[in-house]
Amino acid sequence: MPSDAAYFDHILSTTRSVRWRLDLDRPVKRATLHECIGLARYAPNASNAQEWRWILVDDPEQKHAIAEVYRAGMMETMQALLTKRENEGDLAGVRHSRAVLHLGRILEQVPVHVIPCMPGRIEDDPSLGAVTRLFASIYPAVWSFQLALRSRGLGSTLTTSHLLGEQQVAQQLGIPSHYTQVALIPVAHIAGGDLSPPPRQPAEAAIGWNGWRENP
Ligand SMILES: Cc1cc2nc3c(=O)[nH]c(=O)nc-3n(C[C@H](O)[C@H](O)[C@H](O)COP(=O)(O)O)c2cc1C
Repeated sequence: MPSDAAYFDHILSTTRSVRWRLDLDRPVKRATLHECIGLARYAPNASNAQEWRWILVDDPEQKHAIAEVYRAGMMETMQALLTKRENEGDLAGVRHSRAVLHLGRILEQVPVHVIPCMPGRIEDDPSLGAVTRLFASIYPAVWSFQLALRSRGLGSTLTTSHLLGEQQVAQQLGIPSHYTQVALIPVAHIAGGDLSPPPRQPAEAAIGWNGWRENP
């Protein structure tokens, strides 16, 4: 049994976008999602106002409609990016684009779509403070949610491609117009074995002690 820190480190370093290994045939229990949102509530949020709302969608017709909006916002651009990356021999980029396109194709088959929402619109107050308050009061909770899913054997991906058609989805799900959808998170059990850490730059490349340091 690994120590608490080792288990935590493992979860933190292997909670990654799961697209190819989503088990499309195994239902996700509603109670498990409630549990994970229950844990996400402990995330920091401005003034502890806890204004987040989580829309959970497991109805096949609703998911299909969301998937259509998602694809309209992304597939063509991502296909073009894939071609560019192939031509440039960018192997990591090619892998990423293929995975993103795959998720787009199967989106309605993923058991649950989760759409976290916050009250407020950047059109109403685009100041840095207001925008930061809006998004930073929910993204930590979104990440906690994804970590809680992961520790229960569930995979997810933080996506935003449906936001080009945000209003269509808002209408479909009855989300009030003063709310902002911040993501669409498809959730399924992870098929196959454990996950390994995704590629990342060394931490040293991003650190500046006592001031700015150019990336070496
Ligand atoms: C703001 C944001 C938007 C994203 N949008 C999408 C998306 O629309 N579709 C998708 O498949 N992945 C999306 N991602 C996931 C990223 O592609 C992914 O986190 C990144 O490539 C790192 O890979 P990893 O999660 O496997 O570590 C998004 C991530 C963030 C933070």
